[in-house]
Amino acid sequence: MKQNIYDDHAFFANYSKMPRSVGGLNSAEEWPAFRDLLPDLADKRVLDLGSGFGWHCRYARQQRSRFVLGVDLSSQMLETAKSLTADSEIEYRQSAIEDFEFRDGEFDVVISSLALHYVEHFDIVCRKIHRGLASGGTFVFSVEHPVFTSRAEQDWYLGHDGERLHWPVDNYCDEGIRHTSWMTDDVVKYHRTVATYVNTLIQSGFHTEKILECGISKERLSQRPDLIDERRRPMFLLVRARKPI
Ligand SMILES: C[S@@+](CC[C@H](N)C(=O)[O-])C[C@H]1O[C@@H](n2cnc3c(N)ncnc32)[C@H](O)[C@@H]1O
Repeated sequence: MKQNIYDDHAFFANYSKMPRSVGGLNSAEEWPAFRDLLPDLADKRVLDLGSGFGWHCRYARQQRSRFVLGVDLSSQMLETAKSLTADSEIEYRQSAIEDFEFRDGEFDVVISSLALHYVEHFDIVCRKIHRGLASGGTFVFSVEHPVFTSRAEQDWYLGHDGERLHWPVDNYCDEGIRHTSWMTDDVVKYHRTVATYVNTLIQSGFHTEKILECGISKERLSQRPDLIDERRRPMFLLVRARKPI
């Protein structure tokens, strides 16, 4: 099931007010970790799957990528992304990640930030990305961490005074659809274990080079003490994988 929730007006209005939507990458908690996983982007042909407002596309061009293609399901996200650049080497295309057709070896780098947990069949998409990458190409992605997606509630257990007691994990091994409440009711996401993410990459022919779970470093925390709870449980899973030469 492909749900285009970002074209829902109420959802889009709320998402547009989030710090990362207003302040861009520097307001995104996991950005320093994601950036550290990226290869040198100079002269690279880059694909961004689930490109949203296009922050990563514009960053890639600032790093002198040859061109960037941003793919997203949501026309509202794409319209905003288009309004934020006049760069003719950034192209935006409306498509589901699942429906995007790759030509063999057409990209050097494929990135995807916080979109693949909306995709039901990660294995199929992974095999397509592998085909679409040139030999030696890099796939960098982040998803909501499986500790975060295991329960549809996606929330802390609170004490009597509303204090955060702990983050509950349940049904971790039961992969599949979750009808979550995130900004609006019934936002469909897909829960997979960490092992499934990694094993799917391996089975698709990738060499998994690095995995990060704690998007918020202690250094980052010293700049953003409000993020203290983000170190109590991992919210993001970030991976860099390479297509062998
Ligand atoms: C959390 S936003 C992330 C946007 C951007 N990558 C970022 O990090 O700022 C998720 C994006 O994925 C897109 N998306 C969700 N499911 C999708 C799908 N199946 N195919 C393509 N895009 C999808 C949404 O429309 C939205 O723009």
